[in-house]
Amino acid sequence: MGDEDKDSVDSIFSAAVKNQVFAQKKVLQANYAPDTIPHRQEQTEMVASILAPALRGEKVSNLFVYGNTGTGKTLTVQHVGQRMVDKAGEVDGTRVKFVYVNCKLRQVADTEYRMVAEMIKALGGSVPATGLPTQEVYNKFVELIDDKEQIVILVLDEIDQAVQKISDTFIYTLTRLNSELKNAQISIVGISNSLTFMDDIDPRVRSSLGQEELVFPPYHALQLQDILSERAADAFQEGVLSDGVIAKCAAFAAREHGDARRALDLLRVAGELSEREHASGVKESHIDQANEKIEKDKMLAIIESEPKQFQLVLGAIFQLDDRGGAQDRLVKGEERPIFTGDVYLAYQELCEKAGTEVLTQRRVSDIINEFDMLGIINARVISKGRHGRTREIKLMLSKGIKDQAKKIVGESLGG
Ligand SMILES: Nc1ncnc2c1ncn2[C@@H]1O[C@H](COP(=O)(O)OP(=O)(O)O)[C@@H](O)[C@H]1O
Ligand SMILES: [Mg+2]
Repeated sequence: MGDEDKDSVDSIFSAAVKNQVFAQKKVLQANYAPDTIPHRQEQTEMVASILAPALRGEKVSNLFVYGNTGTGKTLTVQHVGQRMVDKAGEVDGTRVKFVYVNCKLRQVADTEYRMVAEMIKALGGSVPATGLPTQEVYNKFVELIDDKEQIVILVLDEIDQAVQKISDTFIYTLTRLNSELKNAQISIVGISNSLTFMDDIDPRVRSSLGQEELVFPPYHALQLQDILSERAADAFQEGVLSDGVIAKCAAFAAREHGDARRALDLLRVAGELSEREHASGVKESHIDQANEKIEKDKMLAIIESEPKQFQLVLGAIFQLDDRGGAQDRLVKGEERPIFTGDVYLAYQELCEKAGTEVLTQRRVSDIINEFDMLGIINARVISKGRHGRTREIKLMLSKGIKDQAKKIVGESLGG
């Protein structure tokens, strides 16, 4: 290695040690719990007053909390729960138990068994990972909470995910547990990112889980600015944020249905980008770059998680798109449009190569619709006169994303 290499590496490291951009990056991370929660006073107080009777040893109402992602639901409920546990500690710590389970995690909520096992774990108990009858796991759960006089508040975060994978009967079972309990009482706090979750739920579950309901509205841009400013003050070194950076993050996130998580991500990624460039500070252009990077990562994550048949259809569209841009040009300078029929033919070929089942044209058409909704493609219906109608497809991915997406699809199809 030459001296120049050594020097350039050394200067990268020296700059990193000085770390001019962030003071405490963790303050911008999603799991960081800030001390104050601006613009959520009303919700915080509502949750507190609903849970408060637990401190007197009384059962509290079940509560259903809902709102778009990034509206502060998890943060607020955990914050109030922690404050309640602290308060209980001052009075009589044994009477209240606050149990938090996030149903989004795959290993938690894909079966009723695992769901209850996770609740047992959160209470400090344990059951084998599989093997017991589900009823027996419930019995263990009941035993565990009923071993003393206490109020158990069970938070099921992202409860919509659990219901989607299991069914709503397990919530029904949970809300009925009190009749089996002799010493303890249990109340449920369900949190959902889906606004329509309750619509399709068994009415008995709806009325019992929804004894109290609390909605978290999206933040608007000015509120996001307050939230960001407060966190940024601790996260960044003084003076590194250019004017307009916070406002721009807030404006972007306000467009993404008022998502504070998105706003914080933008600010963090922008800081990382400016750090990597050894820029003199975080500029508005870093926010644009950060937004692109986040969009790209999100899109690739979606593509990666799609089932094999989706990837085959996408692979077919990629092939046609490549061809349209190269040898198959009909008119110079004008790209040959991709029609759904072409996609189906190319898809069939790919299926043969991959040795997989071939879906009907109808199903492939549904998959194309879904790509349209995800923003991967843009499909436009055009009339072909008496030959009926077809759709013209345009790939909406930028070249950078497409190249990476092609790799993902290629790998998952085995070559
Ligand atoms: N009012 C707020 N003040 C400070 N940070 C907030 C606020 N609301 C949300 N956040 C932050 O935004 C991110 C998303 O919030 P979260 O509570 O996880 O949203 P939800 O559960 O509604 O999807 C978290 O990092 C959280 O700390
Ligand atoms: Mg949440």
